[in-house]
Amino acid sequence: MLDEKVLLYLGSLEYKQDQTAILEMEKFAKQTGVPIMEKMGFDFVRQILKLRKPKMILEIGSAIGYSAIRMALEAPNSMIYTIEKDIERYNIAVNNIKNFKLENQITIINADALNKNQIIEDVNQFDLIFIDAAKGKNKEFFELYEEKLAPNGIIITDNVLFKGIVASPENATKRIKPMINKIREYNEWLKNNPNYDTAIYPIGDGVALSIRKG
Ligand SMILES: C[S@@+](CC[C@H](N)C(=O)[O-])C[C@H]1O[C@@H](n2cnc3c(N)ncnc32)[C@H](O)[C@@H]1O
Repeated sequence: MLDEKVLLYLGSLEYKQDQTAILEMEKFAKQTGVPIMEKMGFDFVRQILKLRKPKMILEIGSAIGYSAIRMALEAPNSMIYTIEKDIERYNIAVNNIKNFKLENQITIINADALNKNQIIEDVNQFDLIFIDAAKGKNKEFFELYEEKLAPNGIIITDNVLFKGIVASPENATKRIKPMINKIREYNEWLKNNPNYDTAIYPIGDGVALSIRKG
């Protein structure tokens, strides 16, 4: 999305102080094809965490726990709930969370987040909801969980530009076209949702930041 040279330059500045265990998770994700948040996308989330200081965070789509762990490390006073439906990824995430000794800060739930009735009954309000699961279901997740969002809360959605293809849907293969169309519909709906101020940033894989209007 950004000029290649700009991306390379920004990449060269990245994460020199990162912990080895984080780099190992990134390596594992790359080797096994598990999608995790792009580094620059996470840079953005990190700044939001510092600015907003959310106490309660809900993540939909844990994968191997990478973003939940990174959020927990950046916002040590927060409590994070994260939902993953794939049992294999859930098990890896549980292990990663243990390795980082973050079991007291991160509650991981093995469930389909679309079955909201079965999950997160014990928490009434989240300050930040991070949607990063099935890309064609963003609107469903948003509508299911927004009732749990604090009055001045925020919802972050990742991959809303999906490798830039969302802006050029004619380049989508037949296989991903339905998903790309769904993301386009979601972005349109989100930008026109009168209850939120939404900006879409061409950072990482495209990040939408929706702030609930007071
Ligand atoms: C992009 S990955 C999440 C990456 C993670 N947030 C990170 O950056 O480290 C999306 C994950 O959402 C999970 N997922 C998809 N649909 C889901 C659903 N309905 N309920 C729970 N998890 C779901 C997938 O199994 C996948 O592991």
